[in-house]
Amino acid sequence: MTDTSLVGRGVVATLSGLVLFAGLGSAADTATAVTFAKDIVPIFQEKCQDCHHKGSMAPMSLVTYEETRPWAKSIKQRVATRQMPPWHIDKTVGVTHFANDRSLNEDQIATIVRWVDAGAPLGNAKDMPAPRQWSSDNEWQAAKELGQPDFVIKSDPYTMAAHHQDVWWRPITNIPVTEPRWVRAVEIRPGTMAGRRITHHAVAYLAQDEPGADPAAQERRGMLMEWAVGKQYDMYRPNTGKLLLPGAQVSWDIHIHAVGETIRDHVELGVWLYPKGQEPKYRTTLTAFQGRSGRYLDIAPNEISKNEGFTVLSRPARLENFQPHMHLRGKAMSVEAILPDGTRQMVSYVPNFNFNWMTNYIYADDAAPVFPKGTKIHVTAWHDNTSANPNNPDPDQWVGYGDRTVDEMCHAWMNVTYISEEDYQDWAAKHKKSAPQTSEPPQGLK
Ligand code: HEC
Repeated sequence: MTDTSLVGRGVVATLSGLVLFAGLGSAADTATAVTFAKDIVPIFQEKCQDCHHKGSMAPMSLVTYEETRPWAKSIKQRVATRQMPPWHIDKTVGVTHFANDRSLNEDQIATIVRWVDAGAPLGNAKDMPAPRQWSSDNEWQAAKELGQPDFVIKSDPYTMAAHHQDVWWRPITNIPVTEPRWVRAVEIRPGTMAGRRITHHAVAYLAQDEPGADPAAQERRGMLMEWAVGKQYDMYRPNTGKLLLPGAQVSWDIHIHAVGETIRDHVELGVWLYPKGQEPKYRTTLTAFQGRSGRYLDIAPNEISKNEGFTVLSRPARLENFQPHMHLRGKAMSVEAILPDGTRQMVSYVPNFNFNWMTNYIYADDAAPVFPKGTKIHVTAWHDNTSANPNNPDPDQWVGYGDRTVDEMCHAWMNVTYISEEDYQDWAAKHKKSAPQTSEPPQGLK
């Protein structure tokens, strides 16, 4: 990829720079020297250590100086190319504010790069903030705010061998509701602390018969929640929830990887309900906006292909989040809204999709876009079926739609909250003043 090779050159240039000018650089920089103790630890505590601490799932701990120092070069490379923390959306187009943003800002990236370029010094250990503490118990994160969940749904367990290819484990579990109930929050966790090491991510799809569902928008198989390392819980916006119907099931999709030791574990979903009889005004349903409907997906060998799909919103709606879904050849995806008056508005664009990180980008409350009835949701998906894609198992294969990771998919998972015409008019009146967003076509891809 071009990004990586650019940074590769950057690193080489910096290293030779260090060799030549080491003395000069450190003398000139003392006033503003960036040190691990003073500048880096606070950033890592906030943005890295949730995943990078002992016993968590990242490959190394970034807590102490001794643990961090050997990784300095790799840290610079991953941070400068925005691969770490995993947050691959372009924040400069479409929705720019997110409820779960874990990315670094420009200053933080510059600070880390300067620190590595200066030889990754410790500085004065006395500057170090108090270390963060992690609970060694497997506690529900949402319990602090909501108490214990109303019920917990567990997947069948899986035994992962010490050495094995990745596995996608897809059991089905019944949901214990005998009458319709509204969900207010959900949280997924591996069943044990050991299980955290093998569980890369887990998705809990809600499988239930939806009378009156709009089949064009694939409302039937709503996702309850997706969990990936570092994620906490999903609490729906006020007065908004998901509806569970009797007979509902969770259909799991759990991505497990081997870590050199046999581990058996399950994944479980904690569910917090609205009190009986309390109906939130809005129902949110997870919708797969297609970049190309199944059997038409057609990806030629040795090419970067582009596919597009259009879905019309049958009612006014608020879009709550964006999670692009593609497989190994996924490269980029954009979602654009084409309003009934013909104006186009970019909603979200992920330029460097990475199959290992199925990130769900949750729009901040005031940023979640609202569209009138009749708006077309236009999804564009790019697949890289060339040898330049390091995840590509075979660039000489034609690829079509399918479940296996060597097959492809291209849809945008979005929670859609349909609102009334009246609510839409209210919203439109309040948002009239803000300048219309421009729709910048994604750069760098044809
Ligand atoms: C959501 C969890 C998560 C967060 C947050 C996160 N990482 Fe990572 N990191 C991982 C995982 C998992 C891997 C290994 C898989 C991969 O490379 O994608 C990794 C890999 C890396 C690597 C590559 C190690 C190697 O093999 O060379 C570096 C460097 C790194 N992370 C640095 C950071 C830094 C610095 C931050 C914070 C600014 C950070 N990460 C935030 C989970 C995370």
